[in-house]
Amino acid sequence: MSGARIIDGKAIAAELRAAIQEETAAFQARHGTPPGLRVVLVGTHPASQAYVRTKARMAQDVGVDGQLITLPEDASEAALLARIEALNRDPAVHGVLVQLPLPEQIDGARVLDAIDPRKDVDGFHPLNVGRLFSASGGLDPGLLVPCTPMGCLILLRRTLGEDLAGRRALVVGRSNIVGKPLAALLLGANCTVTIAHSRTRDLPAECRRAEILVAAVGRPQMIRGAWIAPGATVIDVGIVRVPAEDGKTRLVGDVAFEEAVQVAGAITPVPGGVGPMTVACLMRNTLIAARNQLD
Ligand SMILES: NC(=O)c1ccc[n+]([C@@H]2O[C@H](COP(=O)([O-])OP(=O)(O)OC[C@H]3O[C@@H](n4cnc5c(N)ncnc54)[C@H](OP(=O)(O)O)[C@@H]3O)[C@@H](O)[C@H]2O)c1
Repeated sequence: MSGARIIDGKAIAAELRAAIQEETAAFQARHGTPPGLRVVLVGTHPASQAYVRTKARMAQDVGVDGQLITLPEDASEAALLARIEALNRDPAVHGVLVQLPLPEQIDGARVLDAIDPRKDVDGFHPLNVGRLFSASGGLDPGLLVPCTPMGCLILLRRTLGEDLAGRRALVVGRSNIVGKPLAALLLGANCTVTIAHSRTRDLPAECRRAEILVAAVGRPQMIRGAWIAPGATVIDVGIVRVPAEDGKTRLVGDVAFEEAVQVAGAITPVPGGVGPMTVACLMRNTLIAARNQLD
């Protein structure tokens, strides 16, 4: 049997949402208006449709005025930019999120640049990215940080304690959405951070050195139990749908869970680990953005 503690992202996300709900109620009482979030979906990408529905439902649950805006698959970049511009000007809207990926006729970087950095609840605007990477002496609580990395940091603190100083952390994956901002957050928390990627030499050896191992790759069960240091804390960001034995499909992470759970000190399951934290952190960012604008 395993010795690893299972990090219950679902329960921790529920606690976070309950705290956010109280704070949105207080915000509404102060300002006579709830925090407002607009989620823009272009096209009919099935996974994106599911994600935006979850975001809208979660917004209702925590007292955020969350509304979905849909544009057709063939919408022009100019049409999307005009929509963003209108949301930037709308005082009832405090957070704007454009669901990625976008259809190929639209330049994603131009779209992210167009969102008012104060309303950038995904934390992908270059100004917010720059602020995250140049933060020193602790994170500004008003900063809009990408949601999945923030969720990972909260899970780590809930598992290991608030003070992560000096911990050897390995982040496998260097995307702008997960790997890089998470590495910046861990560095800000005074971890000793290594970033691995597809060109890393001897990834198993890098993994074995890590006290904190975060996998954000998108390759099902790539990280084996034998790669994990005994007692390490493992955060599995990967979510990939694979065929299951019963002819259906199931979700798996980047870590071979059944092996890893025998060795690790604590580990997130997939699903039920990082995923629920991402949406909770989006609500957290919406509240932060609304406070930054109105308080
Ligand atoms: N739970 C959530 O809420 C959530 C949120 C976002 C993403 N995800 C999941 O997290 C995973 C990663 O997402 P992403 O957007 O960061 O993916 P991505 O943009 O595709 O980046 C994947 C990263 O993994 C690296 N990589 C690929 N093969 C590798 C290998 N063999 N060894 C080491 N590194 C390797 C790539 O390296 P190079 O840079 O060298 O190509 C890249 O940096 C996906 O499964 C995604 O679905 C989950």
